[in-house]
Amino acid sequence: MGQYEFPRGFLWGVATAAYQIEGAPAEDGKGESIWDRFTHTPGNILNGDTGDVACDHYHRYRDDVHIMRDLGVTAYRFSISWPRVLPAGKGQVNRKGLDFYSRLVDLLLEADIKPAITLYHWDLPQALQDKGGWINRATTDYFAEYASIMFNELGDRVPMWITHNEPWATAYAGHALGVHAPGLKDLSSAIQVSHHLLLSHGKAVQAFRDLGIKGGKIGITLNLHPVYPASSDESDIIAARRVDGTSNRWFLDPIFKGTYPEDIWVLFDEKVAPPKTGDGDLELIGSPVDFLGVNYYFRNVIRALGPGDEGTASPVDRITGGALVRPEGKYTEMGWEVYPEGIYDLLSRIRRDYGDVPLYITENGAAYEDRVNEAGKIEDDGRLDYIKAHLIQVHRAIEDGVNVAGYFVWSLMDNFEWAYGYSKRFGLIYVDYRSPDRDRIWKKSAFWYRDVIKNNAVTIKD
Ligand code: FCB
Repeated sequence: MGQYEFPRGFLWGVATAAYQIEGAPAEDGKGESIWDRFTHTPGNILNGDTGDVACDHYHRYRDDVHIMRDLGVTAYRFSISWPRVLPAGKGQVNRKGLDFYSRLVDLLLEADIKPAITLYHWDLPQALQDKGGWINRATTDYFAEYASIMFNELGDRVPMWITHNEPWATAYAGHALGVHAPGLKDLSSAIQVSHHLLLSHGKAVQAFRDLGIKGGKIGITLNLHPVYPASSDESDIIAARRVDGTSNRWFLDPIFKGTYPEDIWVLFDEKVAPPKTGDGDLELIGSPVDFLGVNYYFRNVIRALGPGDEGTASPVDRITGGALVRPEGKYTEMGWEVYPEGIYDLLSRIRRDYGDVPLYITENGAAYEDRVNEAGKIEDDGRLDYIKAHLIQVHRAIEDGVNVAGYFVWSLMDNFEWAYGYSKRFGLIYVDYRSPDRDRIWKKSAFWYRDVIKNNAVTIKD
């Protein structure tokens, strides 16, 4: 019997994102997003799935808030669809789109759930993509304008704002690997995009401060991986350091230290090109944030590329000279290693290298193949064990003095998992995609999480 109690006031949440759950891609004046375009281009998404209906959350949001109230969550992280609010990305505001989010926020507050809003979870207005998207520096200003509209509209009611979700993914999955919208495969664009995303973050933080939004806090969510060399060979150690540099330090350093990491700047200079930056960009990017959101799913164990890797290494691997190895162990349906100690190592490292900024785990969770059994139940022990083991490691970090203020499960419910479509289920709540109402069914992990929240503790019975 063990009891892992969390600090009083610890936020217990669930997370989603607009394109993954809402559906209603053209309703009430919404404009097209790059994900609408990308999913409707044949060959991009497994089974040809699209987010056209998804969880139909746009129509069923009231029921979803009731589910969250019954779960007892104290916070809900969701994202705003930029083209729902600004169909052309800038200019004319779509009042109906704004009203949807305003109603959602009111319902959450009535249920005593703190709204945590992500401004950009990947669904750029297509109209802005047509002008170059994130490669175009002007998009950073459009983002700040859009952010200001949201601050003015909801700033009095929303305590937590996240500018971007996982800029690494937008930059590389979207612009170098081509597996996410807009589907480009060009490394130098990806590097430029990473700078523009960070710059747009800085501009939005600045706008938030200038508007004097009271009572709300602002930060950013990064996907971070603790990186370990596969062996004590010098070459593996160097490759691991580069992977850490491109995926972690490239984003953390400018935000917390106001500079890009020198070694990676030089590496980009040698292999592709460093980003074009303007005067004052890094001061903006380094504008103090109130918290950092951390998405953690798995660790990176890295080996140096060898001669045999030519032809198979991804363009990103070719820059760092490193590739992921697959250690023995347990894996989720995504093919991601289950490594709970990684979240502890990561949290400890952030404090050691970047100071005592409050941290939120804004995503953590697992995809497993769920089955509804004859009794109508879903016994998702794999997911439950995954979340439990990670929470115990988060608790361990807190005991060490790391300032972790909350934890959000990815995800409230099964949803559209990007390039994998509906084939990967991450929810605490099962969504029956075959039923016209997209029926929601509580999984075992949902009942378990409800108890964790009620007790403010993870309890191990043996
Ligand atoms: C993260 C994304 C989130 C979800 C999870 C599984 O990278 O932020 O939308 O797809 O992965």
